[in-house]
Amino acid sequence: MSEEQKNEQGSSSILDKLKIKKTSGKPKERKQVSREERETLPKDDQPIQLKLDGEFKMVATCMQNMEPELEQELIHLGAKEIEVKRRAVEFVGDLELLYKANIWLRTALKVLKPIYHYSAKNDDELYKRAMKLPWESIFNSEKTFSIDSAVSSTHFTHSQFASLRIKDAIVDRFRAQQLNRPNVERFDPDVRIHLHINDTSVTLSLDSSGKPLFKRGYRTVQHSAPINECLAAGLILKSGWKGEVDLLDPMTGTATIAIEAALIACNIPPNLNRTNFAFEGWNNYDVALLSKVLGEAKEKYKPLKVNIYAKELNSNNFRSARMNINSANMRKSILLEQADFFKTPPPAATGCIIMNPPYGERLELQEGMPDFFEKIGSTLKHEYSGWDAWIIASDEESFKNIGLKPAKKIPVMNGKLECQFRKYELFDGKRVEEVIRRKKKVND
Ligand SMILES: C[S@@+](CC[C@H](N)C(=O)[O-])C[C@H]1O[C@@H](n2cnc3c(N)ncnc32)[C@H](O)[C@@H]1O
Repeated sequence: MSEEQKNEQGSSSILDKLKIKKTSGKPKERKQVSREERETLPKDDQPIQLKLDGEFKMVATCMQNMEPELEQELIHLGAKEIEVKRRAVEFVGDLELLYKANIWLRTALKVLKPIYHYSAKNDDELYKRAMKLPWESIFNSEKTFSIDSAVSSTHFTHSQFASLRIKDAIVDRFRAQQLNRPNVERFDPDVRIHLHINDTSVTLSLDSSGKPLFKRGYRTVQHSAPINECLAAGLILKSGWKGEVDLLDPMTGTATIAIEAALIACNIPPNLNRTNFAFEGWNNYDVALLSKVLGEAKEKYKPLKVNIYAKELNSNNFRSARMNINSANMRKSILLEQADFFKTPPPAATGCIIMNPPYGERLELQEGMPDFFEKIGSTLKHEYSGWDAWIIASDEESFKNIGLKPAKKIPVMNGKLECQFRKYELFDGKRVEEVIRRKKKVND
C-alpha cells in the first residue's frame, strides 16, 4: 500500500493506541455446558454464557428494514448460524468476529453478547438472578459501568427501576466477593450492560460497542438534518452501488452519503477511526487480537476506481461537508463543490445518484416542497439521462411531484420518519431499448 493510500485510509487512532426464520452462514457447532455452569443455573433458565473463548452467540442490532443488508454483511464476515430478527440479526462466532463486527459492520448499531437469559416476574427475582452472575469475571472494580434497558412488560412498568435493580445486583455481587464496588457512570462508562425484558423473559447482554456504531468518529460538524451514517451506508448497499460507476450525492449536507460511499468503494471499515469500543473495558480485552483485526483490515484497502461527486448549495453546510470529508481522510476521493444541483451540469455522462433532499418536516425551504420536488424530477429527466437516481423522501406527495415512474420502492426509516427509497432509471426517451440493453448487460 502506498503512503498516499495509507493516508487516505486514515491513520487510525485505535491503531496508534495499539502500538502498545431463516438461517444462513456456516453450520452449527454445539456448545458444551460445563458442570460449573449447570450448577449456577436456576430451574427453567438458560445457562449463563460468560465464556468469550471459543464460539458464542452475538446479536447485531440495526434500523428497521436494514436487516437484509446486515445479514449480508455478517455472511461476508464469516458469521455462523445467522438468524434474522426484527431490527437485529443473531449470529455465532468468536472474539475475533466480535472485534471484526464492531469495526466492519456498516449497518449495525450495536453488537451485543447475551450472557444470561432467565425469567423473572418481579424486581426481587430480577435482582436475585442477576446477582448469580460472576460479574467480577467480566470487569474489575476500577471500571465504571451503566445499564441500558429496553423493557416491554406488565410486570416491570418502570425500565429505570429495573435497570437500578440490575445495578444493585452487580454492585452487591462485587461486595459479596469482598471486592471494591465499581461505580456507575451514565454518560461515558467503560462497560455497558444491556437489559432486555419482554414480559417475564429477561436477557442480560454485554454491549461490546458502547457508543452506537454510527458514531464513526469522522463527523466533526453537525447539520440540522443529517442522515444517520448507518442509514446512509444501508441505502448505498440497497442501491447495489459498489464503486463501479461514478456516484453523485447532489444535496450532500454534511457529506455523509459521499463519505460512506467512499468507505464502501475503498473497502475501508467504517469504524477504523473510532477511538473506543466498550469491549476494551472487559477483563478479556485482547489488544493483540484487535491489533491483528485492524492490521488485516488496513490490508483490504482498494483504491477508488471512479469519481464520487458531492454538491451543496448552502455555504455553512458546504463548510461542514468539507470538514467532515477532511476528517474522514477522503479529501482526495470526494470531489465536493459548492453548487446548485438545479443549475449546474451533470459531472459525468452516466452514474448513480443517491439523493437525500430536504424534508419539509426538518428543513425550511424557500420555495414550496411541491415546486422543489418537481424541479428534482425535471432536472433528472432532462439533464441526467443515462443515470440511475435513488431518492429518499418521507411523503408520497413529494414523490408524486417528482413526476417520474420509479423502478423500485423500498420502505426505510429515517429516525422516526417513515420514508421510501425509490429508484428512477433515467433514459433519453427510448425506454424499451434501454431496458433491453440493460437486461442484456446483466445476462452477459
Ligand atoms: C436533508 S439535507 C442532506 C443531509 C445530508 N445527507 C447529511 O448527511 O448531512 C439536504 C441538503 O440539501 C441542500 N440543498 C438544498 N437545495 C439544494 C440545491 N438546489 N443544490 C444543492 N444542495 C441543495 C441543503 O442545503 C441541505 O444541506
